[in-house]
Amino acid sequence: MLDLGCGYGRHACRVGQLYPESSVIGVDMDQISIDRAMEEQQTVGVKNVQFICTVGGHLPSDWTDKFDFVVINQVMHDAPGVDDIMKEVKRVLNPDGFAAAWDPPVSSYPKEQANNKQAQQFLPFSVFSCLPMSLSDPSGKGEGLGVGWGYQRKKEKIEEHGFRVIQCGDVDVNTVQERIVFKK
Ligand SMILES: C[S@@+](CC[C@H](N)C(=O)[O-])C[C@H]1O[C@@H](n2cnc3c(N)ncnc32)[C@H](O)[C@@H]1O
Repeated sequence: MLDLGCGYGRHACRVGQLYPESSVIGVDMDQISIDRAMEEQQTVGVKNVQFICTVGGHLPSDWTDKFDFVVINQVMHDAPGVDDIMKEVKRVLNPDGFAAAWDPPVSSYPKEQANNKQAQQFLPFSVFSCLPMSLSDPSGKGEGLGVGWGYQRKKEKIEEHGFRVIQCGDVDVNTVQERIVFKK
């Protein structure tokens, strides 16, 4: 499994613990996060998890078709260069594998954001954290997405990269929700 934008590595370590036969790699472009993730790994004592500091849009060239599952947790709306990330996910995902992207469950449309509790909770925070983070590419490639980018536009972006969006449990994929599951 690949945890792209793994942050402090808690989720990757937990998956490694729960599935000792699996092999988990967490990547993040932030070295401080990777250092913390390695500390977490030492604390938890898992051996099947590895952390690498690299940008999601430039993964190692020998990772083509490598992963059965790619997790992108609270990264897409935050990331500068989301197209580069999607291209790399397409390359490294096994043809039978699944990818899942979690982001705050907020609509892309201001009309649907108005009077919506989730939007009220996440959008103010996003203005000061997610949105500037998504603008932070030194080459000026950052789109400034943030939480207001929303569910529908995220789904369009995934489809634009040629993925097939899969229904999540019994929830219709067109319903605003945290998670989108997709495959090649
Ligand atoms: C909101 S945090 C989420 C961390 C973790 N996935 C979690 O759920 O706890 C977003 C993380 O994505 C990382 N990130 C954003 N864009 C990235 C990119 N292009 N390549 C690698 N990591 C990226 C950031 O450094 C940050 O650690």
